[in-house]
Amino acid sequence: MARSVSMKDVAQLARVSVGTVSNVLNRPSRVSSATRQRVEDAIDKLGWVRNESARQLRAGRSDAVGMIVLDISNPFFADVIRGAEAFCHEQGYLVHIGNSDQVQDRQDDLLRHFEQHRVRGVLLAPISSDLGLCDQLKRRGIPVVLVDRTTSGGFCAVGVDDVEGGRLAVGHLLEQGHRRLAFVGGPGSLAQVRDRRLGGDLALARVADAAAMLVVSTPTLDVASGLAAAGEIAALPDGERPTGVFACNDLVAIGLLQGFVAAGLAIPGDVAIIGYDDIDFAAASAVPLSSVRQPRFELGATAARLLFDEIAAADEQAAHSHSMIRLAPELVGRQSTAAGRAG
Ligand code: RIB
Repeated sequence: MARSVSMKDVAQLARVSVGTVSNVLNRPSRVSSATRQRVEDAIDKLGWVRNESARQLRAGRSDAVGMIVLDISNPFFADVIRGAEAFCHEQGYLVHIGNSDQVQDRQDDLLRHFEQHRVRGVLLAPISSDLGLCDQLKRRGIPVVLVDRTTSGGFCAVGVDDVEGGRLAVGHLLEQGHRRLAFVGGPGSLAQVRDRRLGGDLALARVADAAAMLVVSTPTLDVASGLAAAGEIAALPDGERPTGVFACNDLVAIGLLQGFVAAGLAIPGDVAIIGYDDIDFAAASAVPLSSVRQPRFELGATAARLLFDEIAAADEQAAHSHSMIRLAPELVGRQSTAAGRAG
């Protein structure tokens, strides 16, 4: 197998030192245009490509930040990534994205990968409270900031108050006169699911007259799970079927909407739906979806800011105390709940 071309081969062909080749790549203003042209011609002729990972490993750190999200196909995380990337770009850093797919082993593999590639820090939307590997990265000089989650300490974190968000969603359905409700979402291992349901229960407990919330657990928080749950709810007889449904996120809500319409149910006349996140597809849905808005861009940008505050403190060997920022959710009422009727 042919030996790969090295920077030394380029230097020999261009009749310069390896240091001059490095200057052409990193500090071109220090090299005369004639020499720069000779080096560039040699690079083109040999087809040499710099091994950036090897360079950064020798330097002991990279110009990148790692970011791990729960579900890269969910537009919620695309918006959070945009906020983080915008802040990191201003700091001159790239963002390498990993998708854990809500699988702990995949999250841990990604954390190990980012450590081996010496990223400057990691932004993590955690699957669970199992953050053992994050402690290891922190001990090895790679700070981790939790995104879309708050924690009992040990890391900087930024999230949205999901209990308040759940309370807003169910409170909205109750204000529309619904008393037969449903909560659709899962798995319960996700703190987001538990907190949103808890907020819904708190709203229910405050209503004077009789009201009930059927819980339809789902294996995932995507359209397919919403569609399947719609079949289960639509099959209930009139008089038992919930008239107001709180979907744990907008993808589930969109699946519910599709399933209820396919079952011949009118939205919101027969069943009202409210989602969570307020992704762009919520307003654009066939029946514009009421939702609980999460400040997604701000979530990502704030997490990145916390990460660079921690990086700067470490670089200056200054004291650092972890911050925990909890952003506020916002109710957005649209057609999918507008004409709610008492259930
Ligand atoms: O990842 C599942 C859900 O949790 C997303 O839809 C978003 O709401 C996040 O908080």
